[in-house]
Amino acid sequence: MSATDHEIDEAVTALRRGEVIGLPTETVYGLAADASSDEAVGRIYRIKGRPADHPLIVHLAQGASLEPWVAEVPATAARLGARLWPGPLTVVLRAGPHVSSVATGRRPTVAVRVPDHPVAAAVLERFQGGLAAPSANRFGRVSPTTAADVRSELGDDVPIVLDGGPSDVGLESTIVSLVAEPTLLRPGGVPAEVIEEVLGAPLAAAAPTDRSAPGTLPSHYSPSADVVLVAPDQVVDRARVEAQAGRRAAVLVGPDVRVPRGVLALRTHDDPADQARVLYRRLRDADDLGAEVLITSLPEEVGLGRAVADRLRRAAH
Ligand code: TXA
Ligand code: MG
Repeated sequence: MSATDHEIDEAVTALRRGEVIGLPTETVYGLAADASSDEAVGRIYRIKGRPADHPLIVHLAQGASLEPWVAEVPATAARLGARLWPGPLTVVLRAGPHVSSVATGRRPTVAVRVPDHPVAAAVLERFQGGLAAPSANRFGRVSPTTAADVRSELGDDVPIVLDGGPSDVGLESTIVSLVAEPTLLRPGGVPAEVIEEVLGAPLAAAAPTDRSAPGTLPSHYSPSADVVLVAPDQVVDRARVEAQAGRRAAVLVGPDVRVPRGVLALRTHDDPADQARVLYRRLRDADDLGAEVLITSLPEEVGLGRAVADRLRRAAH
């Protein structure tokens, strides 16, 4: 289930040649290339079909110096890094000279994170550089959480996909900008409450009009099925109505909910961390099973529930 030493070496050799590889991380699988090379990073955008002004996250090995990737390390970044790296936290800082301006979308800032995954860690250590990596899906689609997802999404465009098993967190990192006052740009694998506790101050919320992070586009993370959000006690009724109208309906519900015949039951969990882990898997399942409509409700927006709710809203948009 996990990449061999030899496969990791081959992947590092490919990265040195400027190629793009599929890389497991604890959040989702990434599409990685040398973050200091305009040419290598340009290949990521082409494969993903991503607009050039949507910047990428630079992944670094644990203990690697943030400089020269960033211009300066504010005390807030040092504190967050010491407590939460390796882990599903990305910080946005002023960019240093080393990072490709293609990776930053020609902005003066750069997003960096240290992933918490043994295969990603081994690749970064051997590569001895930074890896720019967006999630390994085509633009706007559901992020992959297994090597098989990456292969089915990108096929021959990415010959090397390292297997690291299913991603443990299951959705993307939390992004915090530390360029000015600490601001939450995207909820993700580290609850905002944890970051606020480390900082000893509340995070500002990104303005709704702020398009600085494309993960914040209203429509994103979308399966082919229409995702419909209703109140928890309406999920089953709504599915029955859809099924009676002749649509192939699925519900995403907890373990104890009884689902009427003729409706596909996709199961999630009561615990938010477990919900996060299976969310993208279930969105893909809905498509694989040919669901035309997927009905679910939002979890309570505390802790990881905030990231789950965020992704469901964008999938439904
Ligand atoms: O968990 C993750 O973060 C995964 C894994 C592979 O590490 N990566 C990921 O990358 O989600 P991507 O490209 O799908 O999302 C990157 C997000 C985008 O919303 C982008 O706008 C934001 O990071 N971002 C990157 N550079 C930025 C910058 N300089 N300023 C603000 N946002 C930035
Ligand atoms: Mg993405």
